[in-house]
Amino acid sequence: MASPTGSPQRDSWGSHAGFVLAAIGSAVGLGNMWRFSYVAAEGGGAAFVLLYLGFVAFVGVPVMTSELLVGRLAQVSPIEALKRLGGPRWAPLGMLFAFCGLGILSYYSVIAGWTMRYSFDAIRGALPDDAAGYFARVGTGMPAVLTHVLFMAITITIVVGGIKKGLERTAIVLMPLLFVLLVGLAIWATTLSGGGPGYAYYLRPRLSELLDPAIITDAAGQAFFSLSLGMGALMTYASYLRSKENLVKETLTIAVADFGVAFLAGLFIFPIIFHFDLVETLGLGGELNTDSTVGTLFIAMPAAVRSLGRMGNAVIAAFFIMLFFAALTSAISLLEVVVSAAIDSWHWSRQKAAIVAGATITLLGIPSALNLNVLDVGDKLVGTVLLMVGGFFTSIMVGYKILPQAEQELSLGLDNPMAIKVWRNLVRYLVPPVLLVVLIFSIPKLVTAVKTLFGV
Ligand code: TRP
Repeated sequence: MASPTGSPQRDSWGSHAGFVLAAIGSAVGLGNMWRFSYVAAEGGGAAFVLLYLGFVAFVGVPVMTSELLVGRLAQVSPIEALKRLGGPRWAPLGMLFAFCGLGILSYYSVIAGWTMRYSFDAIRGALPDDAAGYFARVGTGMPAVLTHVLFMAITITIVVGGIKKGLERTAIVLMPLLFVLLVGLAIWATTLSGGGPGYAYYLRPRLSELLDPAIITDAAGQAFFSLSLGMGALMTYASYLRSKENLVKETLTIAVADFGVAFLAGLFIFPIIFHFDLVETLGLGGELNTDSTVGTLFIAMPAAVRSLGRMGNAVIAAFFIMLFFAALTSAISLLEVVVSAAIDSWHWSRQKAAIVAGATITLLGIPSALNLNVLDVGDKLVGTVLLMVGGFFTSIMVGYKILPQAEQELSLGLDNPMAIKVWRNLVRYLVPPVLLVVLIFSIPKLVTAVKTLFGV
């Protein structure tokens, strides 16, 4: 059935559960494990987790609801959606979204490539004892370029398949599998001796750290990245929605699942770090260098293999295969933002859009595969600062420019004036100032990353 504004042939989800799983698939990814573990480790563990939860609840949730309702309301990809609803002045925000999609996926795919390499070597039983040395060897240079290209090829293939056949089917199979594996790993970690201090580090906050601006901004950036906010990914997914279900409920489901996965990941990563005495290797508590921050997970996990023999290999293989799946469903959503823009704005075929956008991203990602400092700058600039810029303008547009229309859309499937009122107040009065402050505080980290890249 054609919607009033969408084109009759426009793709749509086959089932509502398919949409929810795909949205969870977008949110749950490398961010929950690779990025969460290193920013949480850097941010003192528990203090970070607490702040992170606060940002998810009070900033992430209202912004996500806003993105979903804009997408469903417009039934078209972000650039056109923002233009139709807000007027031509809002088109640049949609372009920023597409730019972020290109930028994030270019380095995201490099890391996803590592997961492929790790899975492959773990299955062959070829992971060496020296985890840090192994990471240094396969994490950059030609091996990393190769796995990056391979990962992009897989992502492109799925996106060419379209919404129902590609995106939805992939998510329905992979997401449940991921949850099962993850719970298994968290249980396994409880059997490790000496994990106690790991749990303490992760779960017992030190009050002084709760007020540290660096930790606060990290928590905000991580919330945005992990929930796939600030660049129209969920807006795009919601534009393929025909059914008018309660969007606040969907938002909460996605946010709870995403937080749950990150939290579970911490429950096995921190005991492992302490059990295997990796505190020094990873530089926790001291100055961190880029290699170790980026590699926390990729060094900590395989290090666990050493003393566990065959059993360890199986655990590592399971873990990295799962991480690969999680990365894949997220990468799909990043590429889909760019692809849907090309389809709706330039009337390209899905196949052409996926191949041209995918090839561009593959090329853009090569510098990140060759130099981890480039990857780090990308993550700070596009994966943090620009997402907050995107979230800021999204909340301004929804909260001030199209509020009556937005509330009307939100009230479909949601018969709860109180919830709508809370959402309205958060979007108008809390989200914009908070994001602005956090944005300003996140600039120094970007400057540091750029300086490191240029060696000054
Ligand atoms: N949220 C994903 C993760 O945690 C990454 C991701 C997918 C993303 N789509 C996004 C991040 C859009 C920011 C914006 O791995």
